[in-house]
Amino acid sequence: MFRTKTCGELNINNVGETVTLAGWVQTVRKFGAITFVDLRDRYGITQLLFGEDLNKDLEANPLGREFVLQATGTVTERSNKNKNIPTGEIEIILSSFKILNKSEVPPFKIEDDTDGGDDLRMKYRFLDLRRNAVKRNLELRYAVGRSSRNYLHENNFMDIETPFLIKSTPEGARDFVVPSRMNPGQFYALPQSPQTFKQLLMVSGYDRYYQIVKCFRDEDLRADRQPEFTQIDCEMCFVEQEDILSMFEGLVKRIFKDVKGIDYNESVERMSWEEAMWQFGNDKPDIRFGMQLCNLKFPAHTFSTKANISALIAANFAVFNEAETVIAIAVPGCSEYTRKQTDELTEWVKRPQIGMKGMVFIKCNADGTYKSSVDKFYNEQQLKAIADAAGAKAGDLVLILAGAEERTRKATSELRLEMGKRMGMRKENEFKLLWVLDFPLFEYAEEDNRWVARHHPFTSPKPSDIDTMISNNPAIENAAEYLKHPYANIKANAYDMVLNGNEIGGGSIRIFQRELQEKMFEALGMDAEEQQHKFGFLLGAFEYGAPPHGGIAFGFDRLCSILGGSESIRDFIAFPKNNSGRDVMIDAPSTIDAKQFDELQIKLDLK
Ligand code: AMO
Repeated sequence: MFRTKTCGELNINNVGETVTLAGWVQTVRKFGAITFVDLRDRYGITQLLFGEDLNKDLEANPLGREFVLQATGTVTERSNKNKNIPTGEIEIILSSFKILNKSEVPPFKIEDDTDGGDDLRMKYRFLDLRRNAVKRNLELRYAVGRSSRNYLHENNFMDIETPFLIKSTPEGARDFVVPSRMNPGQFYALPQSPQTFKQLLMVSGYDRYYQIVKCFRDEDLRADRQPEFTQIDCEMCFVEQEDILSMFEGLVKRIFKDVKGIDYNESVERMSWEEAMWQFGNDKPDIRFGMQLCNLKFPAHTFSTKANISALIAANFAVFNEAETVIAIAVPGCSEYTRKQTDELTEWVKRPQIGMKGMVFIKCNADGTYKSSVDKFYNEQQLKAIADAAGAKAGDLVLILAGAEERTRKATSELRLEMGKRMGMRKENEFKLLWVLDFPLFEYAEEDNRWVARHHPFTSPKPSDIDTMISNNPAIENAAEYLKHPYANIKANAYDMVLNGNEIGGGSIRIFQRELQEKMFEALGMDAEEQQHKFGFLLGAFEYGAPPHGGIAFGFDRLCSILGGSESIRDFIAFPKNNSGRDVMIDAPSTIDAKQFDELQIKLDLK
């Protein structure tokens, strides 16, 4: 037998046993005629003691870091105990050992606090994976997967695989394509998600489907995006939105319980998309804290019902008067910010990522007086009126941004998150779930003057909006007034699940009638021929008894990274890509052989 025990399981109760361990050399410490070695495997670290005899053998064959070692000896109580690790009360006094393999000196320390930079660790990912921190992340990932499978299995979901070599599925990104040797000049697309297949499975009668499945999207990468990532993908038939919400709240709550030991007993909050955009400036608000956005001045086309704050526009302050929008947040308890602090915040909003020209602040002093960066323009009464409108109390600091609507909304939303972080309101171990509902069905694409699906083209409109959709011509006559088109107000039967300000899942109740699906494709600018070419299979299937159905997909990597308290999903993927979509360890993507091009009948002509 190679080993009788692992490096993580021996303790004081095993004293006297003869054991054989196998693992990697973490450290070697020589003390005169004896040597201590920490041996590491997946389960832990155990201290080995090489006595005088064995030490001679060691001198002939010195051990280095990461050597692979097999060692046999007796479990013995240690005199110098380490209470920090489970095996810290014992050591193994060795009777024999065997070096199973040598190792080069690793390019970085295989420790929690490593000296290796990102690039180096990615290149030697197989070594990085030996580190405890990374291993813990993969263990968490495994636990999330197992918990999901258990829950879904208990609820009658069936795991069914769907193909990877398919035809484009539109999820809003570019496809990765694969040339077909047997069909020269033709290409498969890798699935951006199994969307159409899971819908077809519903038509086939598999009423509860799930799959923990890879999806491929050629899009710009960020900390929470990878070109290949994993979804917990689910679909159900004979359901309404409410059924889906409760089933999948149940899933996430179960994961919280199984993986983090958290009883999330409260019901999951819900918010309409409009409310989210209005109060938080984005569609995935972090509701662990308040500090809602207050629009002080409204462009004509927003859905606002509030009136302009007269104090704001009474003064002769061009920045506010001329801005399309003016948005404030009230930061609690920060009225005593120093000049240096407000200057620093102003610089923060001016960074290119935020893109504002400046920031106005009002200090709502504890004694009831007001002080601001625009004292020249506003008297104290006006400042109070603005601060009141922003919901500020004595002791608060009101921060105000002004400019073009979309940019200002985004910037204020970022500022809110930043202030939340600085004020310790975004606590790592606090989890707040939220359903965002009632998304618009369409978004306007300015470049092409047409509608695009906000979620994907299979999402159904709210039942009350179906007539509007069917009875109106989707063409936009007047681009400047696209918001007046009836399609601009159609709401989708769609929902996103948000956790601590991250979209962890999204789905919808689907269209299941051919006529409505055709109308949808038409609205997205597809003529009958293109519809047939791209989605003929689905339209055809809808003619053979398609049941009402709906579903959701969770970003598995994202969910893991949030539960693990990390901003980057890469930390939770065994072999991730870097920001340029490269795997630097295996050096992919790379060129292929001339012979492969020949077989594919493809000639490269790079621009
Ligand atoms: P959607 O496109 O919203 O929906 O994706 C579902 C969830 O997948 C995660 N996600 C990603 N994670 C990492 N890297 C990426 N590049 C990436 N893109 C998306 C997000 C997101 O919420 N077929 C539909 C689902 C449905 O309608 O049932 C879909 O794929 O957490």
